[in-house]
Amino acid sequence: MGFRKFSKYSFLFLFISFFAVSCEDNVQILNDRSSLLSFLSGVTSDPRQALKNWNSSDSHVCNWVGIHCNNDRDHVIKIDLRGRSLTGKISPSLSNLSFLTILDLTGNFFEGQIPAELGRLSLLEQLSLSFNFLEGNIPKELGFLPKMYYLNLGSNRLSGEIPMPLLCNGSSLQYLDLSNNSLSGLIPMNDQCELRDLRFLLLWSNDLVGQIPKSLSNSSIIEWIDLESNSLSGELPSDILAHLPLLQYLYLSYNNFISHNGNTNLDPFFSSLSNSSNLQEFELAGNNIGGALPPIIGDLSTNLVQIQLDENLIYGSIPPQISNLFNLTLLNLSHNFLNGSIPHEICQLERLERLYLSNNSLSGEIPSAFGNVPHLGLLDLSNNKLSGSIPDSFANLSQLRRLFLYGNQLSGTIPPSLGKCINLEILDLSQNRISGEIPSEVAGLSSLKLYLNLSSNFLHGPIPLELSKMDMVLAIELSSNNLSGTIPPQIGSCIALEHLNLSHNLLQGPLPTTIGQLTYLRDLDVSFNRLTGEIPQSLQRSSALEHLNFSFNNFHGNVSNKGAFSSLSIDSFMGNRGLCGSIKGMQSCPKKRIQHLLIVAVILSAFSIAALTFCTLRFPISLEAKFKRQFSVFSGGEMETGEEKGSKEMKYPRITHRELIEATGGFSSSSLIGSGLFGHVYKGLLQDNTRIAVKVLDSRTKADISGSFKRECQVFKRQLHS
Ligand SMILES: *[C@@H]1O[C@H](CO)[C@@H](O)[C@H](O)[C@H]1NC(C)=O
Ligand SMILES: *[C@@H]1O[C@H](CO)[C@@H](O)[C@H](O)[C@H]1NC(C)=O
Ligand SMILES: *[C@@H]1O[C@H](CO)[C@@H](O)[C@H](O)[C@H]1NC(C)=O
Ligand SMILES: *[C@@H]1O[C@H](CO)[C@@H](O)[C@H](O)[C@H]1NC(C)=O
Ligand SMILES: *[C@@H]1O[C@H](CO)[C@@H](O)[C@H](O)[C@H]1NC(C)=O
Ligand SMILES: *[C@@H]1O[C@H](CO)[C@@H](O)[C@H](O)[C@H]1NC(C)=O
Ligand SMILES: *[C@@H]1O[C@H](CO)[C@@H](O)[C@H](O)[C@H]1NC(C)=O
Ligand SMILES: *[C@@H]1O[C@H](CO)[C@@H](O)[C@H](O)[C@H]1NC(C)=O
Ligand SMILES: *[C@@H]1O[C@H](CO)[C@@H](O)[C@H](O)[C@H]1NC(C)=O
Ligand SMILES: *[C@@H]1O[C@H](CO)[C@@H](O)[C@H](O)[C@H]1NC(C)=O
Ligand SMILES: *[C@@H]1O[C@H](CO)[C@@H](O)[C@H](O)[C@H]1NC(C)=O
Ligand SMILES: *[C@@H]1O[C@H](CO)[C@@H](O)[C@H](O)[C@H]1NC(C)=O
Repeated sequence: MGFRKFSKYSFLFLFISFFAVSCEDNVQILNDRSSLLSFLSGVTSDPRQALKNWNSSDSHVCNWVGIHCNNDRDHVIKIDLRGRSLTGKISPSLSNLSFLTILDLTGNFFEGQIPAELGRLSLLEQLSLSFNFLEGNIPKELGFLPKMYYLNLGSNRLSGEIPMPLLCNGSSLQYLDLSNNSLSGLIPMNDQCELRDLRFLLLWSNDLVGQIPKSLSNSSIIEWIDLESNSLSGELPSDILAHLPLLQYLYLSYNNFISHNGNTNLDPFFSSLSNSSNLQEFELAGNNIGGALPPIIGDLSTNLVQIQLDENLIYGSIPPQISNLFNLTLLNLSHNFLNGSIPHEICQLERLERLYLSNNSLSGEIPSAFGNVPHLGLLDLSNNKLSGSIPDSFANLSQLRRLFLYGNQLSGTIPPSLGKCINLEILDLSQNRISGEIPSEVAGLSSLKLYLNLSSNFLHGPIPLELSKMDMVLAIELSSNNLSGTIPPQIGSCIALEHLNLSHNLLQGPLPTTIGQLTYLRDLDVSFNRLTGEIPQSLQRSSALEHLNFSFNNFHGNVSNKGAFSSLSIDSFMGNRGLCGSIKGMQSCPKKRIQHLLIVAVILSAFSIAALTFCTLRFPISLEAKFKRQFSVFSGGEMETGEEKGSKEMKYPRITHRELIEATGGFSSSSLIGSGLFGHVYKGLLQDNTRIAVKVLDSRTKADISGSFKRECQVFKRQLHS
């Protein structure tokens, strides 16, 4: 909101007289000097650098930073200390600057109250204290300033009611901005009050109640009315608006206005605006306005650029006459009860950039004429009852950035031509009845920066490899479709991805390890598919991961609670019978512990006629390399194997032939503890006190070594323990 019209003052006093060199002895200017020093003493901010020449005795007051004097340099007439980071309080001493016409302290950190004494500055024309931390009431004395035409107290912490004299007595006001405070009560203007010069009335973001005062209709040259975000009520002020032909901006959103005839008739409101031929924007969102949109909406000013009527109770159909408003760039009718079909005439609005029709009850097909709206950048038709297929003509929309069609009854396939919308950032087609495969053209939309959402449709076929071209996309949701095939490893190229949801499909094969390369991935949901294999460890190293869901697949293997998995519980892994590990609530994997029996069957070809197997109670020492290839090793399935640091070394203990001989006393008969079908079993003790059982097998009968050997080891385990 730049008000260039009001900046003329900045040029008024540019020509400071250079002849009045020594006016310092002038009594008036000395008084002004002491008033300013008094003001300075109220400034507490240390960086008085902002006002650095304000105390040097050799400098004339009129040369002080931010101070402007009249031509004779005997009166301070303007103070401009905008944005100088000043803190402290505004001193009442300023009221002694009796020739002051402009006081501008905008954008500092002043706190405390506005001094009522400022009401004595009878020549003051402009007062701007906006963007400070001023609190308390607005002094009514400010209403007694007969020349004041510009008053801006916006964006402070002012409270209480607006003093009546401000609006009733301040008849010269042209610009009044009290917005973004905590002012309460009515807008105090009775029928005797006239603000005939008022052009800007900005009271948005306060707690004002009641109706818009009738006497505002006396402000016949008003251009801006912004009363947004208050608690104003009553019928829409059509009798006032009808008298405001110069109105350009009307903002009444987020109040409690209703339409005429008990909130059923919008005709009077739209008729009253039809003579405001300069109207450019009107906003009525977030009221509870009922009624249908009357065809006379088409009689509004063709200068209209924006209309916002979202979040109301407007019903009926969208009148085709709206297409008369050919300058319209933004139309927001979202969150109403509109029904009927989208009139194709709306597509004649060829300057339209953003169209919001979401959350209504619109039915019928999406007009293919949307392809004729060349500047369309955002189209939101979500949450309606639209049917038919997505028109091919969107291909024409080279400037389309956001397309929301979710929550309708759209069928047919995704037109591959959507791939021509090369500026598309968001494509959300979720919750429809769209079938067919995902066209590679659409998956290859490398422009997609925000998200692709195709979830809850009837899509089938594979996830296209082209998806990997989306290297800027933040979210991909393909959940609740019938997609099949494997997850392409190329998905690791979508490097910006934060959310990936592939759940509730028919996907098979492993989860590609490349997903672990997605450094920004926060949510990953692959639940309810047919995925197999192990969960890639690469995921655990990811630092961003927060939510993971692997449930109801056929994953198997050991999952540890390390890294990104440390905060996960069994909920993320439900329904995968092959998974075990240290996740909270998950069945632990079979472990081999030091005290437990490790069962290893060994066939030693070094024994010419017999093979050798053994059971051991501890992990044995290492094996000389030359024997390495000569062992066949069996780890008992129902035994506890693979303690955490279960390296190959532990699973496949290596024991030399020589060590076995030593341990069993050269397979002496005193070490013989049993004879089985396949040979003899000896007990023994390795050098590190590991107790072992060694079975010497007949190499001709080694057929089913593992099964029977495991059973035997179970038996020995019990014997050895007893
Ligand atoms: C101004 O200067 C005088 C003496 O130079 C000093 O005593 C006084 O504190 C100064 N005032 C301010 C506000 O800096
Ligand atoms: C204004 O000036 C008069 C006389 O110089 C002085 O008595 C009075 O205190 C001043 N007022 C303020 C608010 O500083
Ligand atoms: C409203 O005022 C607050 C300070 O009170 C400020 O931070 C904020 O930017 C203002 N809002 C607008 C839209 O100017
Ligand atoms: C403003 O109010 C004062 C005090 O109520 C009154 O004396 C004065 O006449 C009023 N001025 C105008 C222009 O209405
Ligand atoms: C000012 O507006 C009020 C209320 O609409 C009206 O009664 C009054 O006659 C108007 N004053 C003038 C001078 O038009
Ligand atoms: C609009 O202006 C015409 C002519 O100036 C006038 O006859 C008509 O009453 C005005 N309409 C409204 C609603 O004020
Ligand atoms: C509306 O359109 C007309 C004709 O194209 C143009 O001259 C005028 O400036 C536009 N108004 C606005 C507010 O854009
Ligand atoms: C349009 O209305 C919807 C619903 O109230 C809102 O979420 C959206 O921000 C609005 N868009 C604009 C540009 O005002
Ligand atoms: C849709 O709009 C209606 C009416 O304004 C509102 O009650 C409802 O919460 C909205 N629904 C959604 C999903 O935003
Ligand atoms: C639209 O809703 C109105 C009631 O609000 C109903 O009378 C009308 O038949 C509906 N029109 C369509 C096309 O559903
Ligand atoms: C595409 O746009 C051109 C002109 O911009 C228009 O002539 C054509 O009809 C449009 N095609 C479709 C399918 O809407
Ligand atoms: C995708 O659509 C589904 C269903 O409409 C919704 O729950 C989800 O939040 C959407 N995702 C994104 C990233 O918008």
